[in-house]
Amino acid sequence: SLVPVILSGGSGTRLWPLSRHAYPKQFIPLVGELSLFQATVQRLGGLADVGAPCVVSNEEQRFMVAEQLQALGVRGRIILEPVGRNTAPAIAAAALDIAATDPQAVMLVLPADHLIADEAAFHTAVAIGAQAAREGRLVTFGVLPDRPETGYGYIEAGVAYGSGGACEVARFVEKPDLATAETYLAGGRHWWNSGMFMFTAERYLAALQHYAPAMLEAVRLAHGQAREDLDFLRLDTDAFAACPADSIDYAVMERAQGDAVAIPLDAGWSDVGSWHALWDAGQRDAADNRLEGDVIAVDCHGTYVHAGSRLVAALGLNDVVVAETADAVLVASRDRVQDVKAVVEQIKREK
Ligand code: GDD
Ligand code: MG
Repeated sequence: SLVPVILSGGSGTRLWPLSRHAYPKQFIPLVGELSLFQATVQRLGGLADVGAPCVVSNEEQRFMVAEQLQALGVRGRIILEPVGRNTAPAIAAAALDIAATDPQAVMLVLPADHLIADEAAFHTAVAIGAQAAREGRLVTFGVLPDRPETGYGYIEAGVAYGSGGACEVARFVEKPDLATAETYLAGGRHWWNSGMFMFTAERYLAALQHYAPAMLEAVRLAHGQAREDLDFLRLDTDAFAACPADSIDYAVMERAQGDAVAIPLDAGWSDVGSWHALWDAGQRDAADNRLEGDVIAVDCHGTYVHAGSRLVAALGLNDVVVAETADAVLVASRDRVQDVKAVVEQIKREK
């Protein structure tokens, strides 16, 4: 069977000041009435042989996860991390939990903060991925790039795998520098890593055992000593805190390329991870502006103005992001918004 694993522990700092530590972007109804997290859950309807979702999140977000699931009438397993250790340990906790009942279950790992316009295309890609996962592969989903984005992982397509358009992964490179990303874009042999993965629980645990044994050991301990509490499974604090932090991309995918397979995904995928991505994915006017809330824009181009709490007027701006909230305003060049993370870190240090 197929077990969706939804990763929802990030704080979405690149969408500051809209996304906050206490109210991260995946829970905000950013597009339409549902939050990105709820849209991720909703999108699972229509997948074949799919079980209840397993959500991996953290203590602070547990009520938002529970409430937003309940609002959809969905019950799921909610695994709580006492501290964030990035995605590789989060997925490991889910894998151990799932393997306890069925080591052969196929995990469909999904970030909680993506948009997918074409659900049917997504479902088809997942069906192809499930087959490769059952054959023991580590499956990723590749998206055709249209810009040298440095916030993504890149997959170099190798020889064909099976008949569904899948390829072996010749090389996986997480977050290359701009010059490298430009070469990849020009070369035409690279996909973006969509950040969704499929493998059997057993296969992922074996990969961790091989590439990051200390991490697996720590998570095994944290899961072994976890406490059940209502719908929540709380990982042991000390054991999980002792776990090395790393993402699945660096800890596993960059190293395991020989075992990895990529499925092409042409489903209107977008990672609304940054102000640029949100601008890119949304409705824009004839001058390529995205204007939200109470906004007046005169002679602006390629500009994104988000007015959250008062009137914002913009004049003569090109490729700028203005994000206004009640207590903080971001003004940034649209091609620099990947670095909002660094701004937030500086605020934490200085304020
Ligand atoms: N439970 C849990 N715990 N979830 C986490 C944690 C954690 O410690 N850290 C991050 N997440 C969640 C985030 O909320 C998000 O849904 C997902 O895991 C991915 O984390 P990001 O921090 O958003 O990763 P990224 O965007 O920098 O990079 C990944 O996604 C890109 C595409 O969107 C990578 O997989 C890239 O290769 C990929 O291109
Ligand atoms: Mg992301």
